[in-house]
Amino acid sequence: MVCQCTLNTLAYFALSYIVYRFVWALYTIVYPYLIASPPDLHKLAGGKWAVVTGSTDGIGKAYAFELAKNGFNLLLISRTQSKLDATKEEIKKEHKNVEVETISYDFSDANLNDYKKEVLPAIEKRDVGILVNNVGLSYDYPEILHKVDGGLQHLANVGIVNILPTSILTAAVLPQMVQRNNGVIVNISSSAAYAKMSLWAVYSASKAYVNHFANILRNEYAHTGITIQTICPMMVSTKMSKARVSFFAPNTTNYVRSAIRTIGVIPETTGCIQHQIQSMIFGLPELVLDLLITKNSQAVRAAALRKREKAAKAQ
Ligand SMILES: NC(=O)c1ccc[n+]([C@@H]2O[C@H](COP(=O)([O-])OP(=O)(O)OC[C@H]3O[C@@H](n4cnc5c(N)ncnc54)[C@H](OP(=O)(O)O)[C@@H]3O)[C@@H](O)[C@H]2O)c1
Repeated sequence: MVCQCTLNTLAYFALSYIVYRFVWALYTIVYPYLIASPPDLHKLAGGKWAVVTGSTDGIGKAYAFELAKNGFNLLLISRTQSKLDATKEEIKKEHKNVEVETISYDFSDANLNDYKKEVLPAIEKRDVGILVNNVGLSYDYPEILHKVDGGLQHLANVGIVNILPTSILTAAVLPQMVQRNNGVIVNISSSAAYAKMSLWAVYSASKAYVNHFANILRNEYAHTGITIQTICPMMVSTKMSKARVSFFAPNTTNYVRSAIRTIGVIPETTGCIQHQIQSMIFGLPELVLDLLITKNSQAVRAAALRKREKAAKAQ
């Protein structure tokens, strides 16, 4: 028979763990978003240039605008030159003193020689203070692995775009950041990294890579003054999410304004207070969480397929 004192000890341990989890969750909501004052970004960065990938739309474009507002010169790397030109013009109109350079590169191209020819020299010759690894690719709608829209090619692209540029560009800016002993690297991951997202296998797993990668780098470069941050958004209203603006799906400007204030404050966060509150759901027991996520993914898939069918009939 188990004695009463063993049971009491176990109960105390369980209670302490629950209290710890609750206090930690509260801290991650309250401290970065309501208490901490943002550190001087230029001091953290050390260099005058900010590199932003996937910067002609959505979250990346909002980071570019916010960094320009903070006085950083911009190197924008994205897929479509016409969109890069339009984004550059928009930024220059609002922030005349900021230099903006662009590189069009399709990050589904995994050829290292192309990186070396088209992307890396522009990074290496500038004093890059901030790198925002934002570019990312998702599915059109949730689906089990072998039925994902776009087939094997799309699965390959999601893996490549979500993992490779973050790894390569980070490795390319680190030498100068190490030499200066400062610099900021922001990796835009996703809250999909926090759970086993059924029907989003490659997307969710590739975002888990981004979180894991940043966690390891924080250890590897712990002796330097380099800031490495991971941002794990829930839903932000963009072309990718197709979500309408709401309290829980902020527009990109408000979202990024909030996220940027947390650089140097917290190493990993969702980016805004409402997402941080929502993310408490990931504290649920795994069994319950898996069930909820699967049900939700299946409902989103059913709605997407109904919409498709309707559109096909209307043609
Ligand atoms: N929106 C959300 O709710 C949400 C939630 C969690 C995580 N995230 C993450 O946040 C990041 C940004 O997402 P977003 O919603 O802002 O996306 P978005 O609105 O679709 O914008 C994506 C940007 O990346 C560029 N891009 C896409 N594929 C590219 C490629 N192969 N090569 C080069 N550039 C490419 C796009 O350029 P083009 O327009 O020329 O294609 C565009 O500028 C992603 O990493 C995403 O996973 C977003």
